[in-house]
Amino acid sequence: MAELFLELKNITKTFQGVKALDNVDLSIGRGEIHCLVGENGSGKSTLIKIIGGVHKPDSGTILINGIESKNINSIESIRAGIQIIYQDLSLFPNMTAAENIAMNQMLESNSRVINWQTVRAEAKKALEEIGEDIDLDEKVENLSIARKQIVAISRALTQNARLIIMDEATSAITKDEVDHLFEVIARLQKKGISILFVSHKLNEVFEIAERVTIIRDGKKVGDYPAAELDNDRLVFLMTGQNFKAEPYTFNAAEVDTVLSVRNLSKAGQFSDISFDLKKGEILGITGLIGSGRTETALALFGLNTPDAGEITVKGRALRITKPRDAIDAGIAYLPEDRLTEGLFIEQSIGNNIIITILDELLNKTKVLVKGRQDRAKNDWVKKLAIKTPSHLAPANSLSGGNQQRVVLAKWLAINPAVFILDGPTIGIDIGSKHNIHEIIRGLAREGMAIIMISDEIPEILDNCNRVLIMAKGRILKEIPDASKVSAEEVFDLIGGGGAADLGAAG
Ligand SMILES: Nc1ncnc2c1ncn2[C@@H]1O[C@H](COP(=O)(O)OP(=O)(O)OP(=O)(O)O)[C@@H](O)[C@H]1O
Ligand SMILES: [Mg+2]
Repeated sequence: MAELFLELKNITKTFQGVKALDNVDLSIGRGEIHCLVGENGSGKSTLIKIIGGVHKPDSGTILINGIESKNINSIESIRAGIQIIYQDLSLFPNMTAAENIAMNQMLESNSRVINWQTVRAEAKKALEEIGEDIDLDEKVENLSIARKQIVAISRALTQNARLIIMDEATSAITKDEVDHLFEVIARLQKKGISILFVSHKLNEVFEIAERVTIIRDGKKVGDYPAAELDNDRLVFLMTGQNFKAEPYTFNAAEVDTVLSVRNLSKAGQFSDISFDLKKGEILGITGLIGSGRTETALALFGLNTPDAGEITVKGRALRITKPRDAIDAGIAYLPEDRLTEGLFIEQSIGNNIIITILDELLNKTKVLVKGRQDRAKNDWVKKLAIKTPSHLAPANSLSGGNQQRVVLAKWLAINPAVFILDGPTIGIDIGSKHNIHEIIRGLAREGMAIIMISDEIPEILDNCNRVLIMAKGRILKEIPDASKVSAEEVFDLIGGGGAADLGAAG
């Protein structure tokens, strides 16, 4: 291995009696691309925050360039060349790209007058270092997530980064953008910068990692050269289990149509969308981001009023202009961006779950029956295996993947007739993903009609009986039996999507 840049030894960290990390070691070579993998709640983000000086370990040592660093805090960590790019990217949305990149120079120059020329020059230099080009005067809020990441990486470079840590950087960007990010990572590596990369997408891990450290339940399982691992072995090391999915079978002849969509259109977003959804069906919708699939889903949930078309639920034509209309008709929607749209982060886990069924839990005299409430909260925590000591804990004490389960529970609690899941397992580890897929199939078997929107073709093919492929706002193709096609065939269809161009939709 190359000379070590960072070495952590015997790191232990406890939160209110819960051992998040138990004697964990991690070493990262200079210029090495290292992946850290483990299930939700296994301690990845906690370990990263310890490296960044955000959390203090209870015990253990940290060496940077071979020198022990006692009581590392955020400032020392940055001085040592450690830069962490968190999932929310920590940028200032209403400032320009240049200002965000050169932020630290602006803060450090003690003068009261900011020299804009210098700010732009700094920002330009950082972008050039990684061969990128972004409109420096554009406000960051107007940039795509992928471009925001480039801004965050460039900012890291202005601070002499020697190690850049990316915690789930790829969960919200497209395949093309991931490829692009990997090119940028390769350029960083050429400069001798080390990368610590966290992702639940194991194909990405195999694509870029040189070494992989695996943690499970706060303990290190091992570290391996990536070349010595394959998918099944890595999954086994992460979970202690092997998984095998069976296709979802469904008999269309016997059951009723729950949802009918006819000629749904909205200028610039989607056009002429028509399909039926039966009780017990799991209908997959896939296509590139920008294919109009999320906009269509939002229209079904009253968050994006279409210009034309009809939506019929259980034979009744509906006008859905707000989420309440959709919920009353029995339609639930799990948003793609659930960490910002789905949770009251400071409220308890339990309160977040029952928020959608408060009416039901109110008894006739309009008093909240505490016993029933607690039972409902406990049931859902158990059913979705949410990793927490109690439903009373705040949602922000949960790991990312466990927060997602809370949002899922919240919508499942209303027992919808039609459940639209946009990216149901984004950011969810492989074992829990399997559990969530089982839950979704179970709901469908009991008669719920489900629409599953996902980028992950294997996820779609393993779980859906039928698939619609969208491109440029239209349904490009219907696959009536998902068990009869391969992932490669679907990739080809998506790649060659040549319907009428309706302009960019998100
Ligand atoms: N601030 C906190 N207070 C209490 N418990 C916490 C806190 N931060 C993390 N934990 C707990 O520590 C454990 C590890 O969480 P961590 O966020 O490190 O997991 P992770 O591996 O990053 O998971 P994910 O893949 O879901 O992001 C979890 O049980 C979590 O609930
Ligand atoms: Mg995490």
